[in-house]
Amino acid sequence: MRWHVVESYEEMSRKAAAFFIEALQENPRLVLGLATGSTPVGTYQELIRAFREGKISFQQAFAVNLDEYAGLPPDHPQSYAYFMESELFAHVDMPSHHRHIPKGLAPDLDEECRRYEEVIADLGGVDVQLLGIGVNGHIGFNEPGTPFDARTHVVELTSSTRQANARFFDSLEEVPTHAITMGLGTIREARHILLLASGPSKREAIQALRKGEPDPQWPATCLWLHDHVDVMVDREAYGE
Ligand code: GLP
Repeated sequence: MRWHVVESYEEMSRKAAAFFIEALQENPRLVLGLATGSTPVGTYQELIRAFREGKISFQQAFAVNLDEYAGLPPDHPQSYAYFMESELFAHVDMPSHHRHIPKGLAPDLDEECRRYEEVIADLGGVDVQLLGIGVNGHIGFNEPGTPFDARTHVVELTSSTRQANARFFDSLEEVPTHAITMGLGTIREARHILLLASGPSKREAIQALRKGEPDPQWPATCLWLHDHVDVMVDREAYGE
């Protein structure tokens, strides 16, 4: 695991975007594993800028997102499908049939999880997976206690996660209780992983990751079982 401690959110975003820009320039058919949340927004803005400047194209690239709330339609402003559209896809040239997000409204969610695993396998796996981290150390929506070999599955969200994400909804009651997420085993199959964390609310989770031991109570620590992980954190998240 390589650690990059940066001074600010902006620096983190620039460096994360530079990583993707280089990867896309080397391989225009890159399979990007993408994430939602406030953390990657700056990275997406930098990618949009690079696209507008003609440095990169997403025309031949593919995207698979980590997760989606169960029960929200793709046009719901808090769905992750809507988030990806407004924060990245509407501004770049990736064909719509190259973009994949679990379907939160699928009639059979378990079947949707199986289908999603097939989508990833058919693409030949994820080349570079971008990750944020929850205050309880979750990645995707893999909550504490998730087995490290879990595949894409339906999860019941913890109250800590629902409270953390309530800021995007009108009230806590409106935050969905369940979600579909790539499992920790699915995530760990990405060839390269880039985890971002910014701000003091992530410090406890980053402290747990810094211990260097896989601990199922802190899901992100499963990344110690992977050989190609870069962690980019600002000082506030890194701590002393
Ligand atoms: C959600 C997402 C995660 C994300 C986390 C942190 O729960 N499912 O993928 O990493 O929030 O979000 P933020 O970046 O807004 O702190």
